[in-house]
Amino acid sequence: MNEKNEFANYLKNAIGDGLSTEQIEAMIEKPKQIHQGDLAFPCFPLAKIYKAAPHQIANTLITGKLPTLFEKVETAGGYVNVFLNKKLAAFQLLSTILKDKETYGSHSFGKGKRIVLDLSSPNIAKPFSMGHLRSTVIGSSIAAISEKCGYDTVKINYIGDWGTQFGKLISAYLRWGEEDKVKVNPIPELSAIYVRFHEEAEMNPSLNDEGRQWFKKLEDGDPQATHLWIWFKDVSLKAFQKIYELLGVNFDSYNGEAFFNDKMDQTVKELQEKNLLEHSDGALIVKVGEDLPPCLIKKSDGATLYATRDLTAAIFRKNEYDFDQAFYVVGHEQSLHFEQVKRSLCKMGYGWSDDMHHVPFGLILQNGKKMSTRKGRTVLLESVLLDAIHLARTNIQEKNPDLVEVDEVARQVGVGAVIFHDLKNEKGNDVEFSLEQMLKFEGDTGPYVQYTAARIQTLLGKGNFKGHIPDDITIEEESWEIFSTLNEFPNVILLAFNRKEPSILSKYLLKLSHKFNHYYGNVKILNSPETLERLALCACIHIVLKEGLRLLGMQTPNRM
Ligand code: ARG
Repeated sequence: MNEKNEFANYLKNAIGDGLSTEQIEAMIEKPKQIHQGDLAFPCFPLAKIYKAAPHQIANTLITGKLPTLFEKVETAGGYVNVFLNKKLAAFQLLSTILKDKETYGSHSFGKGKRIVLDLSSPNIAKPFSMGHLRSTVIGSSIAAISEKCGYDTVKINYIGDWGTQFGKLISAYLRWGEEDKVKVNPIPELSAIYVRFHEEAEMNPSLNDEGRQWFKKLEDGDPQATHLWIWFKDVSLKAFQKIYELLGVNFDSYNGEAFFNDKMDQTVKELQEKNLLEHSDGALIVKVGEDLPPCLIKKSDGATLYATRDLTAAIFRKNEYDFDQAFYVVGHEQSLHFEQVKRSLCKMGYGWSDDMHHVPFGLILQNGKKMSTRKGRTVLLESVLLDAIHLARTNIQEKNPDLVEVDEVARQVGVGAVIFHDLKNEKGNDVEFSLEQMLKFEGDTGPYVQYTAARIQTLLGKGNFKGHIPDDITIEEESWEIFSTLNEFPNVILLAFNRKEPSILSKYLLKLSHKFNHYYGNVKILNSPETLERLALCACIHIVLKEGLRLLGMQTPNRM
């Protein structure tokens, strides 16, 4: 039901050239109270244009023929209020959702435009951290929501595979590393020797020089250094791949930092030619304004930096993908870095730097403290996910001991629980991590939404629903609530996209689930004279829940 648009068109006939249909539509409100109708148009802003009192204007607007979607129009205190023909509106909505299926809620404003997302981007030879999990999950969902709005997306996993730390790691490996151990357990082994390197360097600072020398060798293409680096990278990516498979995410490019090694000279040269480089204590910098520290381009020893690589990568991506927008889904501790990069690009004359957006997020906490995947308390993300799957399995078997496909469902529910838990709060907030909480079947959890969908699926099966909607729909108070919630879905997608905020969608799915469960508790769905239309409503809820979960990166089991 496109009631806002219909109402706007109706008003437009009377208003004439004073306002466009879009402007009118933007002014339409939802009345605070039910007796005031379903939609309201405030005439106060028109008072100036027409030099008349709002209530007089309101009266002149309601003389035309009312569209059939509305059953009544009236004026009250400077507003035009319309009342929906609920039967017709409900019928139209159900027909639309059952016809459009998972494309319901889509938009086309992104058609022909491209968004490049920089997401996940873990550092090789280190544990996949909670921060990288957030980036992966938030980034994938924003990508899916962007596609739902018509955009083409390019998901780039900008692997952290370059920098002085790899010189240290090579030096650590040559001192204490054991090939067999690394082969069996690459990330814990490599990160352990890396931690040891730091500890020993505190007593023996010459180790740091050794590390620097190895990095220099690596940069100069020394065969031994290169061989080890390739190996570290290879085993790390294989380990990360297991996590991506569990999460069900994929990327269009794995071009990480090292990919830009042979491309940075060009950037530095360009900065030089544009007279933007300045010397500072032997280093080369770009000044980016009084309010920010300068952007570091080259260290005094000639080594390039994180920012040099990001500048180069941004230019490369613009040339390669010609993006309309570029999102960097990275924790908020890197806000300064991205601002420096953007401003440097702007000073280089790249107006498109305005299209780059850092999409920051908060931390994952455990007992109020930053959850660390480093040092002694190594929590490997893969084991977190496997624990979640295990716990999901236990919960499912308690509820449904006969479920045959329990392994598959446990995976969908366990992983889904972790994802939903991350995405249900505004991304800027910190998240407290608790497996028990996130796996509950009641409350604001992923399993709750999935369980609701599975319940509906069972009902549809039992009722043998074939997709037919009766022409004359009975409007009940309980069902009307659901109709209007289903009707909000396209707008929820729009908001979630505009704010780059998947939590708007998660919260909506929780609301829809609550409404359904309330309905289910109060209304007899099967074996009633209204069964057909009630099942049609349930089928639409299922379509929206399933599509909403998909956009969050979750699956919808048929049974749980
Ligand atoms: N690898 C980096 C880190 O773990 C994140 C990279 C983010 N993306 C970027 N283009 N800088 O901190």
